[in-house]
Amino acid sequence: MRRAGLVALVACSLAVTAGCGDKAEEKTDTGGQGGGTEQVSLGFSQVGSESSWRVANTKSVQDSAVSAGIALDFQDGKQQQENQITAIRGFVQKKVDVIAFSPIVESGWDAVLQEAKDAKIPVILTDRAIDTTDTSLYRTLLGSDFVAEGRKAGQWLVDRYRGRQDDIKIVQIEGTTGSAPANHRRVGFTEAIESYPHLKVIDSKDGEFTREGGERVMKTFLAKHKDIDVVYAHNDEEGLGAIDALEAAGKKPGEDVLIITVDASRGGLEALAAGKLNFVVECNPLLGPQLMDLVKKAAAGETLPTRVVTDETVFDQAKAKEVLPTRQY
Ligand code: AHR
Repeated sequence: MRRAGLVALVACSLAVTAGCGDKAEEKTDTGGQGGGTEQVSLGFSQVGSESSWRVANTKSVQDSAVSAGIALDFQDGKQQQENQITAIRGFVQKKVDVIAFSPIVESGWDAVLQEAKDAKIPVILTDRAIDTTDTSLYRTLLGSDFVAEGRKAGQWLVDRYRGRQDDIKIVQIEGTTGSAPANHRRVGFTEAIESYPHLKVIDSKDGEFTREGGERVMKTFLAKHKDIDVVYAHNDEEGLGAIDALEAAGKKPGEDVLIITVDASRGGLEALAAGKLNFVVECNPLLGPQLMDLVKKAAAGETLPTRVVTDETVFDQAKAKEVLPTRQY
């Protein structure tokens, strides 16, 4: 493995997340799945902790690094692109073996990723895509197909209102402006409903993927529009916030206003089982094990597939009740 002399330093700063101990031991085979003689170091920059999805994703990355014997340098971007850029620059300076990150927004990464490329450090995009014409700046993208998620949400609506001719008024609570999941979930949803002119998106606003954001946006929609039929929220937290706003306005979520969300976190599935949400599209946050496999391959100089898509399903009320007892997040 490259940069052996620096591995101990990186690993040492990671004692909490990687469960490391003695420096000398960290440079030897950890008994993880790698089978190498030196510990692979991974710099990971996370978006923040805006949702239960994100919290589960962070735990999956941290736990999997420990199980795989990888020295993880975990940096929380706290919802700021500048923080993520600073973290990636730091990883380059520390000469980690591999960099992975979940980009808060799609654009603005070329310069810092060029620095990683110049330093010959492979980059793995995790969860979210970036917008660049230079695909040599990263080795692979591991995560969901957000356009497909948006399509699934739209298709449910098409089926639900099949045969109806009257206008169905939809409001959309979007994820963080400029982020891949917000952009792609909007595109997929629009594609699925565009041949059905009675399905009308009458308003759309950024709810920042948070419960507070969802509640705030839903309140403005309720003040502005009469007779909203459907809320399409880009994640569960925003949908739960919409429930709060609807209940505060004396309306019954799931009955007076239908709600579709994405994620299928425990909180989302509980609301679905209780009839307050109507349909939930799954987005799987448990990317850690696959990420660690890719990290080991990248560190070993192996070729990676350019895209690794997560397997996902959809939930109605019955299916939510069925899986809740064993849901991990
Ligand atoms: O990028 C994945 C999205 O980010 C999840 O749907 C959302 O909950 C999270 O904050």
